[in-house]
Amino acid sequence: MDKLLIQGGSRLEGEIRISGAKNAALPILCASLLVREPLVLTNLPHLNDVATMIRLLTNMGVASTLDGAEAGVTLDANGLTQAVAPYELVKTMRASILVLGPLVARWGEAKVSLPGGCAIGARPVDQHIKGLQAMGAEVHVEAGYIHAKAPAGGLKGARICTDMVTVTGTENLMMAATLANGETIIENAACEPEVVDLANCLIAMGAKIEGAGTDIIRIQGVSALHGAEHAVMPDRIETGTFLCAAAITGGNVVLQGTSAVYLEAVTAKLVEAGCTIGGDANCISIQAPARLKSVSFRTAPYPAFPTDMQAQLMAVNCLAEGTAIIKETIFENRFMHAVELMRLGADIHIDGNSAAVKGVEKLEGATVMATDLRASAALVIAGLAAQGETLIERIYHLDRGYERIEEKLARLGASVRRVR
Ligand code: EPZ
Repeated sequence: MDKLLIQGGSRLEGEIRISGAKNAALPILCASLLVREPLVLTNLPHLNDVATMIRLLTNMGVASTLDGAEAGVTLDANGLTQAVAPYELVKTMRASILVLGPLVARWGEAKVSLPGGCAIGARPVDQHIKGLQAMGAEVHVEAGYIHAKAPAGGLKGARICTDMVTVTGTENLMMAATLANGETIIENAACEPEVVDLANCLIAMGAKIEGAGTDIIRIQGVSALHGAEHAVMPDRIETGTFLCAAAITGGNVVLQGTSAVYLEAVTAKLVEAGCTIGGDANCISIQAPARLKSVSFRTAPYPAFPTDMQAQLMAVNCLAEGTAIIKETIFENRFMHAVELMRLGADIHIDGNSAAVKGVEKLEGATVMATDLRASAALVIAGLAAQGETLIERIYHLDRGYERIEEKLARLGASVRRVR
């Protein structure tokens, strides 16, 4: 298995380009199942999760043509042969659940493996199922698979209020509703920018959607959608991750192909910690002081501080001046990076969903193990500032969500390389 070897101590300087958003690309790839015409996507990130999703779709008979130059892919579901998402593919990527809504809406049925839990929590999909049942689908779970079947005349528009804010739940139900008979209203909808990017792609395909980005989304079902072209939005979590890497190293970095527009909660915390943030619609810059001040925060649905940035800002707090109190309110087990950070010398106390991080003068390189995608990013950030060498094992977690992270970091002056 690959490992990442980091020699800490370099200030990050220079500029890199941010890739397309993983969590926008994944649902948008599934939108191809809603039509029998080509969906042309560009600015796709080159990630394992994206490759897995394309493999899942081609496994169903969707034709895919990659366009390397545009970081693009053209998908055509006209030749769909089977509406099945098998366990062996779904178990490696929970986002596979996003084929459920489109398959039921367009093809009338679906057999999708239950995703199962993952490192950060149980992550049930009951809201996805409840929403489809409200739209008239017959859904039962048998032998680890979700079997869903639309009524003879197709799904019916419904008024759905999810029990909690769920990003992929909102996305699944929004996609299903585009082809339902009548109007669907999703209340308590997720407001994440990736939901809006998916809605924009669906609207380009002929869907009638209002309110994406707010907690009430109205969808007027149409009889058919058509092909379209869509450029995936930039990855705000990759952006935030590199901002944290610059912050912890006292760096001076410009990130191209992205902006602070969707990261106010994160940039506000970095400014509070002592950084200077600038930029425009196409880039974001950060200048960090030699030592940061501790910043407390709590995660919550957009536009509040994103749970996907919690591990990264915890790493930054390890070397800051003061004590930060961090509350994780979305997932029940998303502090696994803490014990690995402690191996580097961090002073962290976990109490349920709360963590107290007392800044220390220095971190010392060590061998650490990645446990999930964003935890791995936190270890990279800490390793960049630790004294000596840090060896991060199991970095396949990183490759799921970060495109060529060691190349981008090296371009900013970090001493990092991948070892087999
Ligand atoms: C999406 O996951 C993201 N993944 C996650 O990013 C992100 O952390 C999460 O949203 C929260 O922002 C993708 O978009 C592919 P949820 P999702 O449904 O949709 C509970 C990353 O690092 N819940 O919003 O699976 C759930 O257990 C990944 O890129 C139910 O109980 O998250 C959690 O506690 C990690 N029943 C909370 O809601 C359901 O039916 C929010 O989960 C659905 C969710």
